[in-house]
Amino acid sequence: MSIFDLGGNLAAGALRRLEAETAHRTTIRLLKSWGPLIPPCGPDDPRLAVQALGMNFPNPVGLAAGFDKDAEVPDAMARFGFGFVECGTVTPRPQAGNPRPRLFRLTEDGGVINRMGFNNRGMAAAAANLKARRRGARAIVGINIGANKDSIDRIADYAACYAVLAPLADYVTVNVSSPNTPGLRGLQNREELTRLLGSLLESRARTVVRPLLLKIAPDLDGHALDEIAEVVRASGIEGLIVSNTTITRPPLRSEHGQEAGGLSGAPLFELSTRVLGGMYDRLGGAVTLVGVGGIASGADAYAKIQAGASLVQLYSALALGGPSLVTRIKRDLLTLLARDGHCSIVSAVGTGSRAQN
Ligand code: FNR
Repeated sequence: MSIFDLGGNLAAGALRRLEAETAHRTTIRLLKSWGPLIPPCGPDDPRLAVQALGMNFPNPVGLAAGFDKDAEVPDAMARFGFGFVECGTVTPRPQAGNPRPRLFRLTEDGGVINRMGFNNRGMAAAAANLKARRRGARAIVGINIGANKDSIDRIADYAACYAVLAPLADYVTVNVSSPNTPGLRGLQNREELTRLLGSLLESRARTVVRPLLLKIAPDLDGHALDEIAEVVRASGIEGLIVSNTTITRPPLRSEHGQEAGGLSGAPLFELSTRVLGGMYDRLGGAVTLVGVGGIASGADAYAKIQAGASLVQLYSALALGGPSLVTRIKRDLLTLLARDGHCSIVSAVGTGSRAQN
């Protein structure tokens, strides 16, 4: 563990004593000031490299959307060893989100519940932050886009965000799966999704071509997943992120377990991995799958890869633990690859799926 990992984890320990959202805001502020001084982790082992979405990822472990909503600190976060960072969700206009408290740590369960409601400073602010990134040490950055809560034309909101933000990012994620914007998840049904992706592909043809990924909820039945797989395949978009937070509640021990909002972290792992595996069975290698939900160890990340993910992301475990987690996950992934005789991440993708067994 480097001195910066140690410092990061000590800071994370101190931050854990603060109210959850105050701790988050403080972390972003610290990273804005001190981030450029964090020494980069050093080159990743080549066995961790992944070619996907037309890019060379140094390792498959990404930061999930929601941490850096306004794209303030993507390169500072990458210095903790992430292979890529997803910023957002960004909406066209700024919005305050839901009243506080709206973020709860479920410490005993290794989970988080949030009902933030797309609090963000809007696409112009995110664009300004992305434009201000220093040249040189730029990480692979995705931008996650959504619609304003009071929008009268949600599909137009996504197209507007694409036009402004895609030129400044390496890929774009279409978030139709946040449970905290009423009605948003309705965009996952066949007709709406066909219209939404069609509109984005038109927007892309008129502006700049960036890989498009769709981020889905884990709370979908087999029929809904069949429909999404069909629409994704027909549209020709490049990727699928599985999954966002769940509105279901497995048995939880923590005080805040019944708060309204989306549940993430360890209690989401099994559900999101099952849905990921189901989408791999449906889509095979037709799109790049990104596995998210409850990753807190190298073994968790490896399970997502075996279920069909070429890339993975995490957020809650970072908030509950500390930044040295990323280095640990990468080290343990290498051990697991060696154990199973794989010479790279790529050769482990989907090895646990039904299609392979
Ligand atoms: C999120 N997540 C999220 N996802 C998204 O697409 N847009 C967003 O704005 C947010 N915001 C957000 C805030 C907070 C506080 C949390 C905890 C999560 C969901 C996140 O990207 C991820 O899909 C889930 O949290 C599951 O991964 P973890 O947290 O279990 O690793």
